[in-house]
Amino acid sequence: MTQPRDIAVSGASVQNGLFHLAPEQFWNMFFFKKKPAHTITVLPHPAICPQGEIVPAIVGKSIVECLLAEEVEIGHSCQMQCSCTTCHVYVMEGGQFVSQQRDDEDRVLKTTQDRQRWSRLGCQAVFEGNGNLVIEIRG
Ligand code: FES
Repeated sequence: MTQPRDIAVSGASVQNGLFHLAPEQFWNMFFFKKKPAHTITVLPHPAICPQGEIVPAIVGKSIVECLLAEEVEIGHSCQMQCSCTTCHVYVMEGGQFVSQQRDDEDRVLKTTQDRQRWSRLGCQAVFEGNGNLVIEIRG
């Protein structure tokens, strides 16, 4: 009789004839049966996510909230009170899928030296659905 061989592929493995899943695979397979409808692609940032990251975009949540939910540790020194610039991001694609900039956000962004037309405070830009975002973390 042949003995089952131990194999491992991408976190899943067969050991002694029993199939094992890595915890995140189990979670993804049984609780998240489908991919997120929309995503935020975070371009590589040397300190925060050197390889870049793709996280689910959640309708009604700010960019900062979406990133923190996936452990992308973007700065948010004022605790998302629209009074610092540590959450400054460039929204490279999908700017039409987040909330409009308000006057208080505009006032804070005026204090940054690298402000661009596509600058947003990640804590104030709320995802509204219908498309994907690509961002670069600046703060
Ligand atoms: S966290 Fe301070 S303005 Fe966004």
